[in-house]
Amino acid sequence: MTSNTSKTGFNSSFGAIMAAAGSAVGLGNIWRFPYICGKYGGGAFLLVYIFFVFFIGMVLMMSEFVIGRRSKEAPIRAYATLCPKHTSWKLVGLLGLITCFLILAIYLVISGWTLNYFWESLTGTLSSIPINGFKLHFNTFASSAVRPAVFIVAFLIFTFLVIVGGVQKGIERVSKLLMPILVVLLIVMCVRSLTLEGASEGVAYLFNPDFTKLTGEGVLAALGQALFSLSVGMGVMIVYGSYLPVDDNILKTSMWITLCDFFIAVLSGVAIFPAVFACGQEPTGGPGLVYEVLPVVFQSFGGLGTVFATVFFLLLSLAALTSAISLLEALTAWLNKNGMRRFSAALLISVLVVFLSIAASFAYGDADNAKTSLSNGIWYDIKIAEMSIYEFLDKLTGTYLPPICAFLTIIFFGWVMKKEDIMDELSNHGTVKIGYFNVFYYFLVRFVAPVALLVVLVAGIIK
Ligand code: PHE
Repeated sequence: MTSNTSKTGFNSSFGAIMAAAGSAVGLGNIWRFPYICGKYGGGAFLLVYIFFVFFIGMVLMMSEFVIGRRSKEAPIRAYATLCPKHTSWKLVGLLGLITCFLILAIYLVISGWTLNYFWESLTGTLSSIPINGFKLHFNTFASSAVRPAVFIVAFLIFTFLVIVGGVQKGIERVSKLLMPILVVLLIVMCVRSLTLEGASEGVAYLFNPDFTKLTGEGVLAALGQALFSLSVGMGVMIVYGSYLPVDDNILKTSMWITLCDFFIAVLSGVAIFPAVFACGQEPTGGPGLVYEVLPVVFQSFGGLGTVFATVFFLLLSLAALTSAISLLEALTAWLNKNGMRRFSAALLISVLVVFLSIAASFAYGDADNAKTSLSNGIWYDIKIAEMSIYEFLDKLTGTYLPPICAFLTIIFFGWVMKKEDIMDELSNHGTVKIGYFNVFYYFLVRFVAPVALLVVLVAGIIK
């Protein structure tokens, strides 16, 4: 393993892989992937997803690593350093950082819910709820004002403390500890799920290829999910790239991170859907799955249900934590490189983001709730473009901004940066043999990735 003596970078390739995999593995893997995989044709969707993950997502990750390590800068200046003649490319970096900020705001809302559910499992509150009361329980909690805000702040404090610890002693150390724990917890959940009677139906739902369900919308969802899940497009990986050891093999590192992210997504599906089907529940995604369906599943486990619920919500909280860390780090690193102390930078961003996050939490709700006795958040009725603040943020960060940023980044990389510089950085100044790979890689960078991203973008906008 390589090592890095500089104070501001990761200490080893292993640490770098854990930190970046920590960023990649998050709520997206656990609550979004299994659902869209089943919905759009199981095995059929998986084939398309594998293509996007390895040929577009991973290519983008390598590109961001190259931009970061070559420039040794945070996103905005990275562009200006690599292209001093056209400094307007800096705007791409800026857009990436704005995207990070908005993702962090909405991510904190969901992370706060998760932390609350971890707490409620641990203290036994969750197990005392009647089996048909979870929908109401989640709704009452999420639409209230104080409790979600308290958990948002608590979660942000954990994230903040890791960032203040620094790159090696904070991010790298925590990721090296948490990622293996996460894998072990996930495997425990998989074993439990697969050994339930009737589990095979869930396995079939996830993996049996059904090409009739693989619609155009499914293909778009696959690419969107690949980008979001690998945390690429918005500059997080540029920052982590600037921390990579100088002799780190970017291709290998990216490959490990991508594999890790992919398998954890698949394992999450195996941990969740067989259990959901075994309990006769409907497969869904998002909040409905995690906070309404899964608690029912855990309760059906009997006495051990509380243990599994606690393990699951801990797992989800940890996965969310390492992703939130990377988002806060990207923003902190930018201010830090501009001369602000790490502590002050992290504090400033945290204070700003917590307001937006709490506003989004106040605005959580569902139009259908008006027809039933369920309530909405106190700010649900404030609308931007006919959406609540929560929905607006969700739409911006889930559909539009990541592919826009990813598209601009790859254009910069493939058409503005010099090919020699890219190959020099990928081969560690000629010391790593990359052979014909560079021809293939460059083709993906220049043609395949931009075209695919453009299609997703246009389709997403006109839909
Ligand atoms: N990759 C994370 C997930 O799957 C989300 C994320 C996106 C994190 C962008 C950082 C940057 O949940």
